[in-house]
Amino acid sequence: SLVKKKTKTLGLLIPDIRNSFFSMLAKEVEDECHKMGWTMILCNTGDQHHRDLEYIDVLASKNVDGVIYCMASDTTLEKFQEVHELLQIYKLPFIMIDRTYDLKNVHAAKIDNRLGGFLATEHLISLGHSKIACITGPMNLMDTQARLSGYKDALEKHGIVFDQSLIYHGNYQMSGGVHGITELKQQEFTAVFAFNDLMAFGAYKALKQMKKKIPEDVSLVGYDDIVFSEMLEVPLTTIRQPIGKAGKLAVRFIIEYIDDPSSAEEVPMLSPKLIKRDSTMKRK
Ligand code: RIB
Repeated sequence: SLVKKKTKTLGLLIPDIRNSFFSMLAKEVEDECHKMGWTMILCNTGDQHHRDLEYIDVLASKNVDGVIYCMASDTTLEKFQEVHELLQIYKLPFIMIDRTYDLKNVHAAKIDNRLGGFLATEHLISLGHSKIACITGPMNLMDTQARLSGYKDALEKHGIVFDQSLIYHGNYQMSGGVHGITELKQQEFTAVFAFNDLMAFGAYKALKQMKKKIPEDVSLVGYDDIVFSEMLEVPLTTIRQPIGKAGKLAVRFIIEYIDDPSSAEEVPMLSPKLIKRDSTMKRK
């Protein structure tokens, strides 16, 4: 018949299975699929766009009914268009999650990154910090850009001039935090805002090696609130992202959409939250 038989299977593409931010996402997506009587196929892309494309071929050959897609960080708008076209060729409905593009007809489950960047930075400013080093993620990702805009919003609100020499572009891995501190150590700063917890861990290690005390010498804020962040010797102040909730909503959306595209309601943007722990304190 012309009607495609459902396999009740979703594919989930994540960039880095070692980062527990994405394991949390995978766990919640799997749980929600299970609840609905569906199955999830997990694809770890190693944060490489060409593997996003390879996995979409694989998922199509396994007749999945839909895809939940978190982009690799080397994805540009043009590269995203390749993925989009491939999904269209296979007639595969999809929803983006976490890393997204604001495009017409592209569904997404997102968390407000501009707000997250603002909350982290304003927290440091409220503690008297004005020289705030910033270790970003890859800048081709919209979510990284939004976090940086939030950082700038907070500086501007409090009359602090933005200083490009305090910015280092990292990779959302621990090594990015280490390299960030090594590169920035010539600069004067009393606080560091790392755009994810893994890079905050790297920064933490590098600062310790330089005999800098956290938080007495340098306050440190991360982003994500992954499971180990509160387990550090100095528990990490960070921005908690409701990624599990975003994952659940993405599953419900795509299953509804597969059933009836006109009745599925778009997923509302979720808000991140500041979690204050011991890695930040009043500037001395
Ligand atoms: O830790 C991975 C980071 O990349 C997260 O902050 C997430 O939001 C993503 O885009």
